Amino acid sequence: MSNIILGIESSCDDTSAAVIRDCVLLSNLIASQKVHEAYGGVVPELASRAHLQNIVPVVSEAIKQAGISKDEISAISFTRGPGLPGSLHVGVSFAKGLALALGKPLVDVNHLHGHVLAHFIKEQEDSPVPSFPFLCLLVSGGNSQIIKVNSPYEMEILGQTIDDAAGEAFDKCAKIMGLPYPGGPIIDNLAQQGDAHRFAFSKPHIPNYDYSFSGLKTSFLYTLRDAVKQDPGFIEDNKVHLAASLQRTIVEILMDKFTKAIRDTGIRTIAIAGGVSANSGVRDAVDDYAKHHGLSASIPKRLFTTDNAAMIAVAGHFKFLKGEFMDISEPPFSRVSV
Ligand code: KG4
Repeated sequence: MSNIILGIESSCDDTSAAVIRDCVLLSNLIASQKVHEAYGGVVPELASRAHLQNIVPVVSEAIKQAGISKDEISAISFTRGPGLPGSLHVGVSFAKGLALALGKPLVDVNHLHGHVLAHFIKEQEDSPVPSFPFLCLLVSGGNSQIIKVNSPYEMEILGQTIDDAAGEAFDKCAKIMGLPYPGGPIIDNLAQQGDAHRFAFSKPHIPNYDYSFSGLKTSFLYTLRDAVKQDPGFIEDNKVHLAASLQRTIVEILMDKFTKAIRDTGIRTIAIAGGVSANSGVRDAVDDYAKHHGLSASIPKRLFTTDNAAMIAVAGHFKFLKGEFMDISEPPFSRVSV
């Protein structure tokens, strides 16, 4: 018998709902919150309020577009954490209420597991999925991790950032350039026209498979501050070159540790996940590396890299198969890794 899972995601500033049947996507709606652009970052209180406004229409529309009735839903899966506490409360409370009203089981999902398992969202019955074990570079606004994925239920963190995440490096450097939030996609666009070797920024020297991005941010800040003192038009005149050089540096930092982990583990299947895996520099670098080394690379559609409920539904599907349900009295959690 097939399983129909309704997924709900509200961990940060996207309200999303999706329906899958045995991992095949039936609908996936995302209401992104524009309200934060004016503030240069996500404002938690505004995010919670926007989730409250969006959640009912987004879930109703996801069920409608999936062409199913509520009775056909096998379970309701939702992001339990990590994320912004107020944002999580909206999704968790809504999922609990709906599960109670419909008499359906609740499945709680770790947001980071969702990003990794986004590779199992199938747009068609025969969509390809990565084979286990695979090495996943999970790069988002809050995390940068190298994860050995042994199965949907067993993931091992080989390395992670000791300070900022890759997405924060993109967003904070974009802010230094005077660009709006989120700066990552804007840097990506500008970088297409720039000279990636025009400027050099510092790279970290830390052991093992861990990352650090705070030094790069400081180096970027000081380079711009000193240059603007000499020439006030420096940032505007060099926008594309600054973006391209910054993107090259972030990609080199990410690939340096990721390729070390690939070589050391000997794993032949690699994948990328999380919002920063939408970046063209990251995608090209992973794709090129895989081609040159005869590896199989799983590069998700951009739609499934940033926060979405389809990945939460898929992660919920795997837990549902094991009968791992959550008690209605359990709270969300704001901090925890994979
Ligand atoms: O995974 P995500 O949607 O949210 C978190 O769970 O953090 O990731 C958001 C992050 C932001 O930092 C955003 O700037 C970055 O992903 N991002 C990008 C691109 N698209 C999104 N960074 C670089 N290039 C992109 N094309």
